[in-house]
Amino acid sequence: MHRDWQVFWSRQHDPRYGTDDPEFIRNHGEEIAILLGDLEDRRVLELGCGSGTLYRALGLQRTQAYRGVDFSQSMLDEFRGHEPDVQVLCADAASYRDSDQYDVVFSNQVAQYFDRTMLERHLANACAMLAPGGRILLCSVPWKNARAAYHVPSTPGNLLRYARGWCRLCLSRLGVDRLGHWYSFRDFRRLARAQGLEVRFFGCMHYPYRFHAEFRATRVDARPAPSP
Ligand SMILES: C[S@@+](CC[C@H](N)C(=O)[O-])C[C@H]1O[C@@H](n2cnc3c(N)ncnc32)[C@H](O)[C@@H]1O
Repeated sequence: MHRDWQVFWSRQHDPRYGTDDPEFIRNHGEEIAILLGDLEDRRVLELGCGSGTLYRALGLQRTQAYRGVDFSQSMLDEFRGHEPDVQVLCADAASYRDSDQYDVVFSNQVAQYFDRTMLERHLANACAMLAPGGRILLCSVPWKNARAAYHVPSTPGNLLRYARGWCRLCLSRLGVDRLGHWYSFRDFRRLARAQGLEVRFFGCMHYPYRFHAEFRATRVDARPAPSP
């Protein structure tokens, strides 16, 4: 049982990174930019683009084509406020699919709002839109192995805080979590296998309780040759 995220985000105007520190935001952007690689001449689809806070830090203005999708009109209005010519549309990212082909399909701090069924749907849709050699990146995904450390203080210095942390952890295990869904590498490997994808993982430097995942189509030349 999670919040109604669409209602929640319909009232927001920024991505709620947990800090307004411009240096932190710039560095977080640089981290994601390394994962995305050089985007010049690439066609890029961003799911849950929000207010485009990282748009320039990620070099998205240099792409051959960029499309952002988000279900929050207030976030998209913010985005258009500083990037009037950007191509964005208001839609559900998990079920989003169009007839174009993209070299990179990515999201940052969005997978937590997808349950497993939505994640499966998203990956299937992303695969269908992926150009040959393309990549799907799910960045800054809450990492299940770090959930206890996130909720419960490491030392029981303040007993009330410690007890509250344990309550939050128990509720999270029951499916009630203010952050949304937490995933493990194993969950993502299963999702990748189901879609015929390879997956690689990277630690998240700026949010140590998150990870990044990069999916690619399984190499065709790695498959056994068909018998004559
Ligand atoms: C934490 S913000 C991140 C925004 C942006 N990716 C960034 O890094 O600045 C999460 C965004 O995902 C959007 N979002 C969450 N679930 C979504 C869904 N199912 N479909 C479309 N957008 C979604 C929210 O509206 C919000 O703008």
